[in-house]
Amino acid sequence: MRAIRLKTEHLHEPLGLGIRTPRFSWNCAGSAVQTAYRIVARRDGETLWDSGKVRSSRMILIPYEGSPLRSRDRIDWAVTLWDEDDVEGEPAPSWFELGLLDADDWTARWITGDYRPRRNTRYPVDCFRTRFRARGPVARARLYATALGLYDAHLNGTRVGDFELAPGSTDYRTRVQYQAYDVSGMLGEENTLELRLADGWYRGAVGAYGVTRLFGDTTALLAQLELTYADGTSEIIGTGDGFAWSNDGPLQFADLKDGEHYDARLTPTYRGRARIARPGPVPTASDNVAPRTQEEFAPTVLTTPSGATVLDFGQNIAGFIRLSVAGRAGQRIRLRLGEVLDEHGEFTQKNIQLDKPARHFGRITEFLLMTGQQRLLRGELESTPKQEILITCADGVTDYQCSFTVAGFRYALVQGDVDIDPASIRAVAVYSDLEQTGTFTSSNAMLDRFVENTRWSMKGNFLDVPTDCPTRERLGWTGDAQVFFNTAAYFMDVAAFFRKWMRDLEDSQLRSGKPRAVAPYSGVPMMYDTSGGSVGWADALVLVPYRLWKRYGDEAILREFYPAMTRYARYMISHTGHKRRKDARTNPFNEYTYEKGFHYGEWLEPKEFRDEVSARSRPLCTEEATAYLHYTMSHLAEIATQLDEPDDAARFAEYADGAKKAYNHLFVHHGTIDTDRQAKLVRPLALGLLDPGAAERVGGRLVRAVENRDDTIGTGFLSTPFVLPMLTEAGRSDVAYRMLENESAPSWLAQVRAGATTVWEDWEGEASQNHYAPGAVCEWLFDTVAGIRIAGDNRFVISPLPGGTLTHASAGYDSPYGLVTSAWRTDNGVTTFDIEIPANTTAEVHLPDGRLRTVGPGRHRFRTDEPTRPAQR
Ligand code: BGC
Repeated sequence: MRAIRLKTEHLHEPLGLGIRTPRFSWNCAGSAVQTAYRIVARRDGETLWDSGKVRSSRMILIPYEGSPLRSRDRIDWAVTLWDEDDVEGEPAPSWFELGLLDADDWTARWITGDYRPRRNTRYPVDCFRTRFRARGPVARARLYATALGLYDAHLNGTRVGDFELAPGSTDYRTRVQYQAYDVSGMLGEENTLELRLADGWYRGAVGAYGVTRLFGDTTALLAQLELTYADGTSEIIGTGDGFAWSNDGPLQFADLKDGEHYDARLTPTYRGRARIARPGPVPTASDNVAPRTQEEFAPTVLTTPSGATVLDFGQNIAGFIRLSVAGRAGQRIRLRLGEVLDEHGEFTQKNIQLDKPARHFGRITEFLLMTGQQRLLRGELESTPKQEILITCADGVTDYQCSFTVAGFRYALVQGDVDIDPASIRAVAVYSDLEQTGTFTSSNAMLDRFVENTRWSMKGNFLDVPTDCPTRERLGWTGDAQVFFNTAAYFMDVAAFFRKWMRDLEDSQLRSGKPRAVAPYSGVPMMYDTSGGSVGWADALVLVPYRLWKRYGDEAILREFYPAMTRYARYMISHTGHKRRKDARTNPFNEYTYEKGFHYGEWLEPKEFRDEVSARSRPLCTEEATAYLHYTMSHLAEIATQLDEPDDAARFAEYADGAKKAYNHLFVHHGTIDTDRQAKLVRPLALGLLDPGAAERVGGRLVRAVENRDDTIGTGFLSTPFVLPMLTEAGRSDVAYRMLENESAPSWLAQVRAGATTVWEDWEGEASQNHYAPGAVCEWLFDTVAGIRIAGDNRFVISPLPGGTLTHASAGYDSPYGLVTSAWRTDNGVTTFDIEIPANTTAEVHLPDGRLRTVGPGRHRFRTDEPTRPAQR
């Protein structure tokens, strides 16, 4: 038996890890059962830890227990497994390397460009350079780098690494991530290190209103090149005022959302000197995967009714433009990037843009925008984001690729005075390079396309942090990430990604315990601080670590974020009770009723169900808030019990129970709820608010509500992931399938029919085309249609559920314990189920006819026409 898919701290061979006591994981192959393992960890050939033969079937997150590790340690580790016959297998090797763990590992100094930034002025990209001679042959070289802004590095003319939009997105006031690069093979005797510095999240346009200078006026860069010579001596070349600087290179403008201006005629002169900048926070490792360039798309050329030239890349993505163009010096090209063509077939950015004041964004602006009074804004308004690439050609061929901007687009409007050859233009997707773990196909091609649309919306929004959309806002909206988590975790291995984002979320928490509505911090406090406590959004603070624990078996994540969770619990507890005294008096469960604070409610149900919201008044969201008080407190009680915090557990359980009583008192009349508004029925069912009798009645009412609307979808962000599961639980998977396969709007497949290649924000398709939240239905395809669920360490439950018009469905999930597949096919009234589970796991298989089997590793086939024996355990 042999270990495969070795990981350290959820990552494949991480370079620059920041975790001092890392944990090791693997999957098994070759034999059936792992009866023992042995891990050996070495540094430069010296054994630091030998676990010895440990009798255990455990294969995830086993902590390193050797002598303490230091910054820069490169650890080679190998795991040997014993199988069911106690036969020892071959050791499987892997490695990790620690980064710079302590503040005093940094000897380089923060530098900035030699100019004094002024308000309402944007600046070209800074270019820094140093030249140095290597003292002798270099055995090992590492570049550690970060920025307050965005940076990239070139060593001797070659790009260092492939991390895009480094150093990634965090609250730069308190946290900045560095990257570590192995540059060992890139050095010669004479060397040139060049670094560029752009505005990025730090100083560029961020969020819905394109607020700039969010973190500061002065961008800065910190980089440290560490050389270890063959003779064992070492040398550090760190940023400092010895670096040459100029900002006269080709990138005269670069903004994450607004685009880039690239003048190919320019090369940086490096005429000036870097200035020492005020130091940023001590850089830390992200322990996350890198965003990288991914798939490429070639365009087809359209001529619109008005005669404009538009490139159609066929897929809505978030990413870069790459092109090469032959022209004369001074000729220009302008590309504007957008997601859709309008009703006349013309290019538009209307669906992704908002108006903002062209000049400084202050508190008054914020107030007027937040209260819907933009018409009172003084001065010019401009549309944001611009998503515009301007290129000025040099003589001959100009090669260009975006560096410090990323756009959400499928179409490019081409303007300018030079002919460009579409064959030399590409759209290049950029997203965090997460391991792809989930596949789903079926006999319904439209459904399969919707699954791919959801995967594309995930790709378009998982760029160091999970965002709502890659265009209008591009913010780490907590609610969106929360509702999508389970679907995301089937599609890709998101353990490290969400651990990183949980740190952002914790950073974003206000002193009251209320998180901000978006993480990392994005300013606009009137909006994001005020709305941060909204149920379904704020609850990400509890639900994301809870789901990380259940999915990846990672209890340490619960421990790490328990203090933040309990702060949030305290915030909720201190905000219970009705807003109005009259309501408080008549409700015996007032203490457990939740409605105070700002709540978004269900958010974006089909138009006919949306509550009227105006600048002056908002409906109370007592129903949603009290339901989530119960749900989140129940999760907290379970977490507290797991972490051995009995007093907390009791208090959380008290609130869970009280909120359930309050909910029933307020919203469940005569043991049921009577409405056609699906969310109002789905929520109490899904969040566990109903006793069995009521659940049956409300389940029945949900079926009617769906049928009354011809099987179309009626939920918004919060209930969409639950609607099919609740129909299934009500015993009506037939209705769930009808809703799933419905091609009439509002529905998932109506989007596909309308030509969508990503998931729409609203059911009407009028806003952003790339919001993954409504794609959270895909969870049901994996856990119910194919029926794959994790049931704890090394265990699965597999309960496939054929239905609808589907004649086959097949899913694969590369789980933390290995690859599980579940497929079924119906032929002449007989359904065949093919299930495969990996070595060292077991699965309980539940078949629709009630048969239940426990199976071990390997392939298993069941047929509906085989003689059935009574259910057995
Ligand atoms: C965002 C969402 C977010 C919501 C809050 C929107 O503008 O795009 O996805 O969750 O605001 O309700």
